[in-house]
Amino acid sequence: MKRHALPLLLASLLACTTAPPATTSAPTSAPTPPPAVPVAAAAPVVTGKAMVVSAHPEASRIGVEILRKGGNAYDAAVAVQFALAVALPVAGNIGGGGFLLYRAADGQEGALDFRETAPVAASRDMYLDAQGNVVPGRSTLGHLAVGVPGTVAGMVELHKKLGRLPWQDVVQPAINLATLGVKLTPKEAAALNGNQAAFRELNAGHLPAYVKPQGEWQAGEVIYYPELAAALTRIRDRGRAGFYEGETASHIVAEMQRGKGLITRQDLVSYRAKWRTPLHGRYRGHEVLTFPPPSSGGVALLQMLQMLEPYNLQAAGWHSLQATHWITEAQRRVYADRATYLGDPDFGHVPVAQLLEAGYNRQRMASTLSYRATPSTAVTAGAGLPGYESDQTTHYSIVDAQGNAVSCTTTLNGAYGSKVVVAGSGFLLNNEMDDFSSKPGTPNAYGLVGGTANAIQPGKRMLSSMTPTILTKSGKLVLVTGTPGGSTIITSVLQSILHVLDYGMNAQQAVAAPRLHHQWLPDQIEVEEGALSPTVQDSLRARGYVLNPRGGWGRVDIIRVLPNGQLEGGADPRGDDSAQGY
Ligand code: GLY
Repeated sequence: MKRHALPLLLASLLACTTAPPATTSAPTSAPTPPPAVPVAAAAPVVTGKAMVVSAHPEASRIGVEILRKGGNAYDAAVAVQFALAVALPVAGNIGGGGFLLYRAADGQEGALDFRETAPVAASRDMYLDAQGNVVPGRSTLGHLAVGVPGTVAGMVELHKKLGRLPWQDVVQPAINLATLGVKLTPKEAAALNGNQAAFRELNAGHLPAYVKPQGEWQAGEVIYYPELAAALTRIRDRGRAGFYEGETASHIVAEMQRGKGLITRQDLVSYRAKWRTPLHGRYRGHEVLTFPPPSSGGVALLQMLQMLEPYNLQAAGWHSLQATHWITEAQRRVYADRATYLGDPDFGHVPVAQLLEAGYNRQRMASTLSYRATPSTAVTAGAGLPGYESDQTTHYSIVDAQGNAVSCTTTLNGAYGSKVVVAGSGFLLNNEMDDFSSKPGTPNAYGLVGGTANAIQPGKRMLSSMTPTILTKSGKLVLVTGTPGGSTIITSVLQSILHVLDYGMNAQQAVAAPRLHHQWLPDQIEVEEGALSPTVQDSLRARGYVLNPRGGWGRVDIIRVLPNGQLEGGADPRGDDSAQGY
């Protein structure tokens, strides 16, 4: 792997200069050739008409089947979402929620919010003990951690507005998958084996399909999901009533009563997915379409792009000292803002327009200290980081033969969510309540703190980092991107854009390249193996940065439209992700 082909001479020369003045103009063309692409030249999948990139080969296959049958990108999204609920239990779901961004071939666009909500019986201090301290595990494990699921309402809403094939046809493939069973990949077998004790403890009285009665799951073994197939059949036959009412709703309510959870029949019937207005920004001549609050991701992404545009990242070199400094300082500032200002816009004012004001973001970058790290203690927006968001989420990108594009990120939050499986219906429930700030202003179990904008309130949506994003140029589709990864989602999506636009990587290189992440607090750069050369690491430390080596994160799945109109897929090699098309 050609990981460290960095222009070291260039890096040291740049280290003697000062940051360029904040300006809205795009950088001039690079004085040196672009840096060598730092990852093995993994060949991307290239197709002529349509493509699905998702976290599981079965889901991508099903999505492509729907497209071949004459379905559009929205039909395929519904089919992929339900297929992931079967094939990818760690994150795919009908018991969770998500954000779907679309841009139609004719330029129409929309942002569908099917984020979970706090049950009506939820309260601000529900995860605190009598002394006002956060009770470890209460917001992450078991029935009390569950938010009202939004996925089925979201899929019904999407299909009602934009679908072309009959609803039954787009749900059926997932039913078939659940009935015929899914072969475990080595990664899935290992993940399931690591959670057997929790599944048993939290599902006492019934044995979910995820529990191996004896021994351990092996790669290649097939799991069958008859209860989940029955739940999906009710959704196929009755739409949202097949989930939020009737037998499945009874199963959810009984499950809540069994484990002292809060969700009631009324919570289920009242849940609504919401259409929101996408956010727009620009970067290097491209239009960036992304997700508004209750995602924090879209705002933060556009802020970082504004902060970085004046800097010539290409000339500095991929993960050079200079580029790492600029990118880290932008990330630090944006995550400080995020902590204070972001929350559910239906429950409080989120100052989106002010945060996306170009002058504001350029001004924020003006406080960077030449090439030294700015201590995070010197960067404040008044509070700390929003609640921890686990990295067990999943993303799919779809482009159909007409050029309609879907970017969807969906989640149970933690791996297998709350680890509670609804008895009789066989699906996992989320633990999304942990994305609220359990105790605003105080660090949670992960050392992160959050603001009152993200405090728990009945019916409120918890803040998310999910950042489904679509780029166009002169009205033409260029890139569909997104990823799971909790609080790292935003910086991984940023890097996928920089990798393509600034560093000229192909789609597969763009998702495979090792990543960096800084989120203000803790004040350290998370460094994936191979992301920084030893020389750059030493230089960063000398400039005051703390580096924290970390295993890979994120599963970035992207589709790039090539100048000749072909589609190039990037499926993250960190997972079982798969790009397929025709
Ligand atoms: N639970 C992950 C997120 O919504 O950001």
